[in-house]
Amino acid sequence: MERTLSIVKPDGVEKNVIGEVISRFEKSGLNIIALKRVKLTKSDAEGFYTVHKERPFFGSLTDFMSRGPVVVMVLEGEDAISKVREIMGATNPQEAAEGTIRKDFASNIEENTVHGSDSPESADFEINYFFNALEIGG
Ligand code: CMP
Repeated sequence: MERTLSIVKPDGVEKNVIGEVISRFEKSGLNIIALKRVKLTKSDAEGFYTVHKERPFFGSLTDFMSRGPVVVMVLEGEDAISKVREIMGATNPQEAAEGTIRKDFASNIEENTVHGSDSPESADFEINYFFNALEIGG
């Protein structure tokens, strides 16, 4: 059993595909064990994406992630991290495989609809960034 964090980003919320994203995760057999809709401040987004703080796109990415509400969730299941990444597709929607979330809904490499943790270490950091122990499991 593995846990991962996923986010429906502001463009996904604006496009009204929260349910579509959740449905694709559920159909793959993953269980949602925590879920909430939140509006990040610029500083919240900077803290979440701190690993990217030296990247040229950091300012633009954190503006985007704080421009409107997002839906954050913890998914649990076998190989949850790689399963979510497969369902999301490549970061750049132009390179994403057919049938993936980013291929179907993302606008561009930044406004790419969904986020998923890329390793057990980042999943741990990201889950704890948004959820406390009381909010997980239920
Ligand atoms: P995500 O998987 O959330 O991880 C980091 C995010 O930065 C990524 O999705 C994109 O939203 C964004 N990103 C990654 N590479 C670029 C890039 N070259 N230009 C702009 N945004 C990027």
